Amino acid sequence: MASLLVVVICATLIVDLKATSEGEATGEITQDLKDLLHTSMINIVSLNDLVTELTQRVSKLTLLQTDLQTEIKDLKILFKETDAKLRQGANNTQLRVEELKLSLTETNKKSEERAITTQLAMEELKLSLTETNKESEKRANSTKLAMEELKLSVIETNKESEERANTTKLVMEEFQRDLVEVREGLTRLQPRDGGWTEFGDWSGCSAKCGGGTQTRTRTCNNPAPANRGADCVGQEEDTRECNTDLCELYNVYITCDNYLTLYIDGTEMRPEGLMQWNILSTFQIPSSTTTIAVKCSDHNGGRRDACGIIGAVQDSQGRDIAVTDSSWRCFDSWESGWQLPNFTERDHWKQAEDQGGSHPMLVSQNGGWKDIPSTNKRVIWGSTGSGTVYCRKTI
Ligand SMILES: *[C@@H]1O[C@H](CO)[C@@H](O)[C@H](O)[C@H]1NC(C)=O
Ligand SMILES: *[C@@H]1O[C@H](CO)[C@@H](O)[C@H](O)[C@H]1NC(C)=O
Ligand SMILES: *[C@@H]1O[C@H](CO)[C@@H](O)[C@H](O)[C@H]1NC(C)=O
Ligand SMILES: *[C@@H]1O[C@H](CO)[C@@H](O)[C@H](O)[C@H]1NC(C)=O
Repeated sequence: MASLLVVVICATLIVDLKATSEGEATGEITQDLKDLLHTSMINIVSLNDLVTELTQRVSKLTLLQTDLQTEIKDLKILFKETDAKLRQGANNTQLRVEELKLSLTETNKKSEERAITTQLAMEELKLSLTETNKESEKRANSTKLAMEELKLSVIETNKESEERANTTKLVMEEFQRDLVEVREGLTRLQPRDGGWTEFGDWSGCSAKCGGGTQTRTRTCNNPAPANRGADCVGQEEDTRECNTDLCELYNVYITCDNYLTLYIDGTEMRPEGLMQWNILSTFQIPSSTTTIAVKCSDHNGGRRDACGIIGAVQDSQGRDIAVTDSSWRCFDSWESGWQLPNFTERDHWKQAEDQGGSHPMLVSQNGGWKDIPSTNKRVIWGSTGSGTVYCRKTI
């Protein structure tokens, strides 16, 4: 076909060339034509080859067609067989599906059964779990109880320990006390010589003048002798003289209505004429004197009433040391030691009654009437039913 087409195209070209280029271009055209012819010739040879080839191909195609028809027949057979197989296969598949369905049903049933079994098992498990829980609780309870018992026992043990500690402490303390006692006992058994304390203060002097004494003492208890240890060596009491200056002498003037007894520092004085109401007793006492005690009885004419006392003590310069006044103390009965300097006057001793500065009597001495020199003297009375009064004065 292609070679035919080339021939047609060449012919047409030749006609066109004839029509357009007559004249001066004739030489070129001839050359072109020659070339064209040459080419066409070549093309014709090619076309022939082509036709030959085409013919060969057609025969080949015819053979191929036959082959194809055969093949188609084969294919049809194959198809039929395949179809049957497929159908069989489908049937088989269906059977299988049914089998599968059956088996599935079976399986379901079994599953259900298993599920039930599982549920039952679960319930059993639950029950057993509950049981287990209860047991656990019981165990927990008993553990708790055991713990509490343990705690109690620990507390008990602690108490016991404390008690033992206490007892031990007590025993230790007793032991220590015993030890101290033993030590003290040992110390007690050691012979110990006595030792003096320091001397105490000096006591007051026994006299204001004319030489008195005073003492001081010490004690053998520093320490006291023990376990046949030696006594203290030396005197317990130390004595020395004091107020050694000579005493001044005081003048005493005194009388009483109407019988007088006089004590100077506890010692009864019996100067001449002392006893009479109308006699003025005059005498001297040392300035160390502390107590003047006067007993006065009024037995005048059998009357027993008040007694009057009047007197004075003066120093050598005529100065009053003491006069009868209300500072004297009186009582109407004899009491043991009343005349002594250390007598303690109790409440029933009363102050002397001051009866004024004068007394109707002036006393005479050795025939001459005299008065007591002090202007401060008073007449003192001790009212009494017994007719006797006791009066004291501390100077
Ligand atoms: C397939 O099964 C159908 C019905 O079940 C039956 O009629 C048919 O003959 C079976 N075909 C073969 C190829 O077994
Ligand atoms: C455990 O103790 C509790 C409280 O004391 C009590 O209520 C419970 O019943 C006890 N449980 C058992 C299993 O004994
Ligand atoms: C131990 O002694 C202390 C102090 O004296 C006391 O308080 C405690 O009660 C004692 N303990 C016992 C268990 O006797
Ligand atoms: C008072 O002194 C006298 C002697 O002067 C004496 O015998 C008597 O024991 C003393 N009484 C008292 C309590 O001191």
